[in-house]
Amino acid sequence: MATEQDMTNETGRPPRCRVLVAGVGGGAGHVLGHMLADWAEPPVVAAVNTDARALAESSVGLKVVIGRTVTKGLGAGGDVELGRLAANEDLDALRALVSGYDLLILIASLGGGTATGVAPILARLAREEGLLTLAYVTLPFDFEGTRRQEQAQEGLALLKQSADAVVCLPNQRLHALLPPATSLPEAFGFVDRMMSAGIRGLWTLLARDNMLNLDFSDLQSLVENSGNECCFGYGEGRGPGKAEQALRELLEGPMLEKGRVIANSGAMILHVIGGPDLPLAELQTIHRRFQEAARPGARISMGAAVLDDWTGRLALTVLAAEHWMPPTRTA
Ligand code: GTP
Repeated sequence: MATEQDMTNETGRPPRCRVLVAGVGGGAGHVLGHMLADWAEPPVVAAVNTDARALAESSVGLKVVIGRTVTKGLGAGGDVELGRLAANEDLDALRALVSGYDLLILIASLGGGTATGVAPILARLAREEGLLTLAYVTLPFDFEGTRRQEQAQEGLALLKQSADAVVCLPNQRLHALLPPATSLPEAFGFVDRMMSAGIRGLWTLLARDNMLNLDFSDLQSLVENSGNECCFGYGEGRGPGKAEQALRELLEGPMLEKGRVIANSGAMILHVIGGPDLPLAELQTIHRRFQEAARPGARISMGAAVLDDWTGRLALTVLAAEHWMPPTRTA
């Protein structure tokens, strides 16, 4: 449901890529909240949920309540089949939501009923409407129990069939980044911030004119040849050693399994956000370090955006495809 306003940016020109960010279910709603909290010029952001009360409390502009008949405006109570029924009840509204965009960034915290049931259906509708769909999902912490883990895995398998690529962030892996005394809300808050920073980074590079542009075709090539699976890493640095700090987090930290994912990936996209003081030498260092760490011949695309209020800060996001295969050319 892209409007004329969505199709133009602040310069009055059409944006480089029409992006819809949609979060499905309760966990994704929290990610959207973090994302919007300090974002001056956000893209079109939509929240889809069976839980009407959670949606009413959300700061997101575009809200779609689904399945009023089947869940009576309550959540799906962890029942994936109810989530599916809710989506099927409102297929027209979901289709209208995605139509008119080029790229759907779909956010879902898998394991519960709504996100797990609805996300694969929304991705299928987006595909039918001609969008490229990149889904960012989290998998439950181990302590959430086997049922949620199994539901999440089933949902993930279905989502991989309908989305062009799924970027998977197992909550358990992030556990290793957090001090043992971290509370559950703090742990979820950490996951939310990490997802929202990565997605904001990607959107910034796709939708604006940047210092070093990343084209939609770069993303499309990565995603379409990724074997439907990408890994996501995010690192941030501040002060004089900011690039080194972000590189250390990514190449030695648990998110990309201490560099294992990079060493195995055939293609990756790096996106850097920095302030007006971002030195070219730091961009060169980042590119070189990933080239050294990656599999020989890996395709590395890089984009960089300068934001006025990012002086002294640098954020580095990586999308890496371990199962990437070069596109086959037809004569
Ligand atoms: P129903 O509650 O059954 O309607 O489905 P839902 O998709 O809304 O479930 P919900 O999002 O509440 O829970 C699914 C998974 O999301 C949980 O198993 C947690 O792993 C995760 N989750 C819960 N709260 C948060 C949160 O605040 N942030 C993030 N990132 N994930 C969360």
